[in-house]
Amino acid sequence: MSFPRMAILISGTGSNMEVLLRAVNSGELKACVTFVGSDNPCAKGLAVAASLGTDTKVFSYKGRARQEAEEEIAQVICETKSDWIILAGFMKILSIDFVKKFEGRVVNIHPALLPSFPGAHAIEDAFLAKAPFTGVTVHLVDSGVDTGPILAQEKVPMYEDDTIDTLSERIHKAEHKLYKETLQNLFAKSQNS
Ligand code: GRF
Repeated sequence: MSFPRMAILISGTGSNMEVLLRAVNSGELKACVTFVGSDNPCAKGLAVAASLGTDTKVFSYKGRARQEAEEEIAQVICETKSDWIILAGFMKILSIDFVKKFEGRVVNIHPALLPSFPGAHAIEDAFLAKAPFTGVTVHLVDSGVDTGPILAQEKVPMYEDDTIDTLSERIHKAEHKLYKETLQNLFAKSQNS
């Protein structure tokens, strides 16, 4: 049986991507990574991916329509026969057309318990709301922002003496565990169906 092929898209640090790559490289996650792509040529995660032996690509959005950048991403996804598109801190919103083309195959991780605190500042928003807890969500991407079917969630406690930094650290730790486990389950399910 061949392993599911995943393309990973990032925009920045890529700590979730790194955990996934290491799990793939160690055989813990039964999948292969076709490439790591970024809209941001300076994304730290690109160098990390390359150092772990993964192909990297930059899809520039600068000075051109989103559609053009997305066409390039779609082309590489098709050329590399990627089954899954794994968003790991990819900060560009994908168009409805792109999401439809790859429906049910685009997965995202969000640093809050959706539907609470959607959007780009989820950790700060939960922190400022002084909620007793927040969490992380792995979901399929649909045409909305952070609205697709939820695959898995995990609560993360918030403490009185938390700062944004301590909370962020706890959330990222939960993300790293949940993303890997959820993809393991998702891939196993899709191979059995
Ligand atoms: C994570 O918090 C993820 O939930 C959000 O973007 C952040 C990416 O972090 N979508 P990293 O680049 O994986 O370190």
